[in-house]
Amino acid sequence: MSLALDERYREIIGFLKPFESLWLGSILPRWPESRTSFPEAWLSFLGSQSFEDQRAFEDERPIPGMPEDLALLLERAGRVCELESVDEAWSLADIDVQGLNLKKQHEISRLLPLLASEGKEIERAVDIGGGMGHLARLCVKNFAWDFHSIDRDPALQDKGRWWLNRSRGLDKAKLSFVNAEFSEQADPRVDALFNGEKSLSLGLHTCGGLALSQFRKSLASSLIVNFGCCYDKMNLSEDVNRSALALELNLPWSQSSLFLATRSRKGLSVAEFALMKRVNEYRFAIDLLFRKLYPHLGFVVAGDASKVLYAGDFSRYVIDRFARCKLELSLTADELNAYFASDVIQKEIAAIFAAHMLQNLFARPLELAILHDRALWLSEQNYSVRLVQVFDREQSPRNVAIVAHLTNARIS
Ligand SMILES: C[S@@+](CC[C@H](N)C(=O)[O-])C[C@H]1O[C@@H](n2cnc3c(N)ncnc32)[C@H](O)[C@@H]1O
Repeated sequence: MSLALDERYREIIGFLKPFESLWLGSILPRWPESRTSFPEAWLSFLGSQSFEDQRAFEDERPIPGMPEDLALLLERAGRVCELESVDEAWSLADIDVQGLNLKKQHEISRLLPLLASEGKEIERAVDIGGGMGHLARLCVKNFAWDFHSIDRDPALQDKGRWWLNRSRGLDKAKLSFVNAEFSEQADPRVDALFNGEKSLSLGLHTCGGLALSQFRKSLASSLIVNFGCCYDKMNLSEDVNRSALALELNLPWSQSSLFLATRSRKGLSVAEFALMKRVNEYRFAIDLLFRKLYPHLGFVVAGDASKVLYAGDFSRYVIDRFARCKLELSLTADELNAYFASDVIQKEIAAIFAAHMLQNLFARPLELAILHDRALWLSEQNYSVRLVQVFDREQSPRNVAIVAHLTNARIS
């Protein structure tokens, strides 16, 4: 087991555990009880900051004059999340980037140098959840690997075949699309792709527990590279705390903390932060209104409204949401807007927003707790494992690769 991984995991858990009450549960459904978990000095400081200062905090940057203990927490959150990173970019020809959005171009241009250096011995590769097979196609072109791209979505794979046909400068016969629902169950067509040496098992943004299914099926692969995503789709009873160390340290998980782990992102633009803030404020204010008008209903799920409703005033949003929830509304548009603008409501939503900003501070550490646990589990299976930040977080937030080489001890 890698000592560095082990130590870092202990640090992350040591950081998270004392603040469990801040990140384990959702804030809004339990408000105002949930408020008691947050130091009032932090809530009032963050709640009263300017738009730009709040955006800085959301971006994990300190705000001048912030309470000392909060500044220390922010600094520590950054420190426990430090990871090795790579920033070499492969230059992609115009024909190669056809069909790739900017995010995918960034991801592939960063991944190719990593795969080139980690995969020198590789001759065969499998991509789990390979979608349209853009990454597979460019690996075939640059490394001449025999490649199988597995995905359950035949429409995506048809598009992938179309892009493959249009491409130049590669042996197209080396790339095959395998349409299959990948799971840990035996499937002769899929299992045949996972034996033998000099093989790479790749998963670029495997949703939820699919990463673990990939690992379990790949235990003969000489190299495993995986990026996780959608941690909230993990099964709470099966997919978390898998490694011996995680079982020992026993960090508690909940559906909402898994969801929080998917929320860490950096570099929100002014417009993105403004929209996020507006969505939150409307959501919090309507929640307070639901409670006032329909106290017996408990927490009402308002659902996602269309973007245009957040651009308009509060009353339009409320009228739309009440209709969706089939609830009667006797207040006029003016009354609703006055309610939203009132001091009491503005103060309350500022505090709820501040609590969410504080909770978001734990998103990245939670994500890294999940990824370290997976990495530790792989080290228990005789892999030598590193975690590497491959993408810029601003461009692709699920940016950490688990890079695992089967050790000689296991092969011999
Ligand atoms: C987040 S996308 C990533 C696609 C691709 N790797 C990329 O980075 O562009 C996840 C992909 O995994 C596929 N997928 C999810 N679960 C799957 C499963 N159990 N078996 C096969 N494919 C799966 C989806 O159809 C989708 O194409």
